[in-house]
Amino acid sequence: MKQLFDTYLFRGTDKSANNRIALAPMTNKQSYDDGTLGEDEYRWLTRRAREGFGIVFTCAVHVQPDGKGWEGELGNYDDIHIPGLTRLASGIHQYGSLAIMQLFHGGARSPENLIHTQPWSASEHIFTIKNHNIPVRAATEKDITKVIQSFTKAAIRAYHAGFDGVELHGAHGYLLHQFLSTATNHRTDQWGGSVQNRARLITEILQSIRLHLPPYFLVGVRLSPEDKYNYKGIDIDDSLRVAEILKDNGADFIDISTWGSTNPPQKYPESTKPIITWFREYLGNEIPLFVAGEIWTHQDAVNALIAGADFVALGKAAIGIPDWPTLAKTKTPHITKPPYSTAQLSNADVGNVFIEYMRRWDNFVSDGDI
Ligand SMILES: Cc1cc2nc3c(=O)[nH]c(=O)nc-3n(C[C@H](O)[C@H](O)[C@H](O)COP(=O)(O)O)c2cc1C
Repeated sequence: MKQLFDTYLFRGTDKSANNRIALAPMTNKQSYDDGTLGEDEYRWLTRRAREGFGIVFTCAVHVQPDGKGWEGELGNYDDIHIPGLTRLASGIHQYGSLAIMQLFHGGARSPENLIHTQPWSASEHIFTIKNHNIPVRAATEKDITKVIQSFTKAAIRAYHAGFDGVELHGAHGYLLHQFLSTATNHRTDQWGGSVQNRARLITEILQSIRLHLPPYFLVGVRLSPEDKYNYKGIDIDDSLRVAEILKDNGADFIDISTWGSTNPPQKYPESTKPIITWFREYLGNEIPLFVAGEIWTHQDAVNALIAGADFVALGKAAIGIPDWPTLAKTKTPHITKPPYSTAQLSNADVGNVFIEYMRRWDNFVSDGDI
């Protein structure tokens, strides 16, 4: 029976995580306009390593300027980024955590005012956000070849900077997800149609990275298991198949982003099995699985492991409670839930820009004393 504080050795590598607790990838907007590492981004991530998170994922890091998703986002598309990334990897390693960079391209969801060009995706469509209708152009073969190269070059930079691996962001409606989804991918060529074809962009990136880097460099993929919000077009059955294709193509791990780690799939609400159990049963035991989604207490994390995860990835809890691993170790029942005061967040090395960003989450930040 696996335990939260068991170590985990990734098969065929020398990469060992000290425990099963990961900091989920989280956009925090604390880097510079040119994508170089900001001081607050460094502090936020290295603090979680210091507090005992066995694996620290970075935020979504754009691999091309036209894939940027937010102001202040960490970048990895140029050698100017390498010094900051090197400092970050060694800052995380000094506390014994593994450092994994999440690589992404925003596709249709990259705002025009940030990328200064028309956003592109799998197919031409109108992307609607906050009552704005944004025309998105279809990817050309040249775009696809270039983006595969950009993901590969970013992985190579991450490797040279000292990161233990990368995670391809195939979730939440960004470019890789847009290719997976029938809502945004209407292509009739080799990049569209069957699940295999829709997953081709991710598998080509995976294979290209494998070709250029040693096998001990971890390459995993994050997936959204099913339709949600504005990233519809893929259901649990498609996602299980995508995960299997990725496993067959040598992915080192699959990270399932749920919005409630105990929920059954929406497609099968009568099921008593949480989504992660569906993936475990479908994929077998060889591939490590991460799960995120409303994990707050030690017991929530244990339940996720029992349901089939090898790792829990903590999002909101890790923002407000940097010492979550220590509290979990002592099985402290008192985990404070939001709202968190600005003072508490500052003490947790959440910088002002990130605190402001967190106001977008209902009732997360409080200006008064808590
Ligand atoms: C502020 C914030 C930023 C996030 N940014 C990312 C991101 O860059 N990449 C990603 O895959 N998920 C991102 N997520 C989703 C989290 O990784 C996680 O899956 C989600 O918050 C659910 O976990 P939780 O309930 O523990 O917060 C973000 C979530 C939050 C709260």
